[in-house]
Amino acid sequence: MDGKTFNRYIVVALFLWVVNIFGCTFTHGNLFLRDYAARRNINIGAAIMADYLEETEYTDIVVREFNLVVPENHLKWSYVHPEKDKYDFSAADKIIRFAQKNNLKVRGHALVWHKSLPKWLTPDCNDSEPNKVSYNKKELEDILEQHIKTVVTRYKGKIKYWDVVNEAFEGNDNSGELRRTFWYNILGKDYIEKAFIWAHEADKKAKLFINDFNIGERNLKSDALYEMIRDLKREGVPIHGVGFQFHLDTNKKPDFENIEANIKRFIGLGLEIQFTEIDVAICGEMTKEQLELQSEIYQGLINIALKYPQVTAFVTWGVTDKYSWLSRYAAEVLKSETFYGSGLLFDENYRKKPAYHAIQKSLNQ
Ligand code: XIL
Repeated sequence: MDGKTFNRYIVVALFLWVVNIFGCTFTHGNLFLRDYAARRNINIGAAIMADYLEETEYTDIVVREFNLVVPENHLKWSYVHPEKDKYDFSAADKIIRFAQKNNLKVRGHALVWHKSLPKWLTPDCNDSEPNKVSYNKKELEDILEQHIKTVVTRYKGKIKYWDVVNEAFEGNDNSGELRRTFWYNILGKDYIEKAFIWAHEADKKAKLFINDFNIGERNLKSDALYEMIRDLKREGVPIHGVGFQFHLDTNKKPDFENIEANIKRFIGLGLEIQFTEIDVAICGEMTKEQLELQSEIYQGLINIALKYPQVTAFVTWGVTDKYSWLSRYAAEVLKSETFYGSGLLFDENYRKKPAYHAIQKSLNQ
């Protein structure tokens, strides 16, 4: 080797060394939620919509910050099964492709729900009114089995977790009664276990969840859910986890001790737990105090999640306040006259909120 070649080697080696130092500084200095979450062995996720995947600000955040996504709507019946003999997987496929390309896990949501049902199935699936139903029990059972098996099979190996049954219990009164839904009214309570069995037949490896709201603390609803799962598991029904939605707001600080004790008893049944639809709506004016309160609630939840390895995912119901479902929910369902919304970790301009930093801090401990 002559002197010149030797010098070149030295220059290249020095260059690589400097790049390496900068590389490390860069990555350590810019860790995102998913990096911290990986160290703590928990998935951090968000519900996403195919509609926004062309928007780079949106997708940049999704791929940088999260390692799990949930199609917010596109796997619901009315989207994926718009006519009796026709499925439309286009939007869901788009999300799955995006997830695969960016190394994101996927939660499927939801195989059985009483909302977002297509008109061909029931012209009126409203909770409070009797359903006008055109199918008898046997026919509806076949329809449900075929739907579950078709959708789960299509995404076999691609969707790791499924919400098989969503919101099976009565809504806000926490009576602990099974909800008198379209499915319940025709099929009886057995629709729940059958749905799990069919989903399992279609993908033996998928983890199957029952998902609901107002079950975070001990109450009649979470008691009833607990007892039902205990019995189903005794019978050998393939149910692997509980999804706690956690749609919360700053008007009511959750009782974290109560939530933790409640989660522990579900873990005691040998279940995996995921926090599946977190948002913490700001009530009234968006003040610094409100943002702080929101942040404390997020932090209380993540701290519980991090305490138990059986809690395997922490998922926010959306990415940015810009596209959150909360404003429509506040207007149409709550008929709220004051502001109710901005429940996510990123504001309408994709800026990180105090809640983001609180989550980051907990993940980094
Ligand atoms: C909501 C979506 O966010 C909205 O875009 C849609 O219009 C209605 O459904 N519980 C659930 C979710 O299980 O599927 C709901 O998602 C929010 C409440």
